[in-house]
Amino acid sequence: MKYCLVLLVAAVIAREVVGHGMMLDPPNRGSLWRFDIPGAVPNYYDTGNNCGSFGVQYSLGMKCGVCGDAWTDPRPRDNENTGKLGRGIIAKTYQAGSVIETKINITANHNGTFTYR
Ligand SMILES: *[C@@H]1O[C@H](CO)[C@@H](O)[C@H](O)[C@H]1NC(C)=O
Ligand SMILES: *[C@@H]1O[C@H](CO)[C@@H](O)[C@H](O)[C@H]1NC(C)=O
Repeated sequence: MKYCLVLLVAAVIAREVVGHGMMLDPPNRGSLWRFDIPGAVPNYYDTGNNCGSFGVQYSLGMKCGVCGDAWTDPRPRDNENTGKLGRGIIAKTYQAGSVIETKINITANHNGTFTYR
């Protein structure tokens, strides 16, 4: 474990600007239910994380919550750990410093972006 980085999905900050899509590998918290993971909270709007809309995001200087929640949402935001969808489920673990492949299903591209940190 010493050399392993436990990557909580929240650590991957997905910023999406108005587009529609979901992170499937590793699954974001709002999409865990699609993989029949016990304890995952169904979120039928997991393609709709858009930082609260472009207008909200733009008015805040392009701020976005973790996993596309609106920056202005009260904390913990839905996709944050202990939030509505954050049930402490670790979707995947990776070795620190490794190069990883991710899969994102873009269902409507409105010039949205994802940023990994
Ligand atoms: C991607 O999303 C579309 C629309 O919801 C769905 O039909 C398709 O099965 C999804 N693809 C994967 C690999 O989950
Ligand atoms: C996406 O960006 C291109 C180039 O900047 C622009 O021409 C187009 O209108 C944009 N589309 C949307 C849906 O914002």
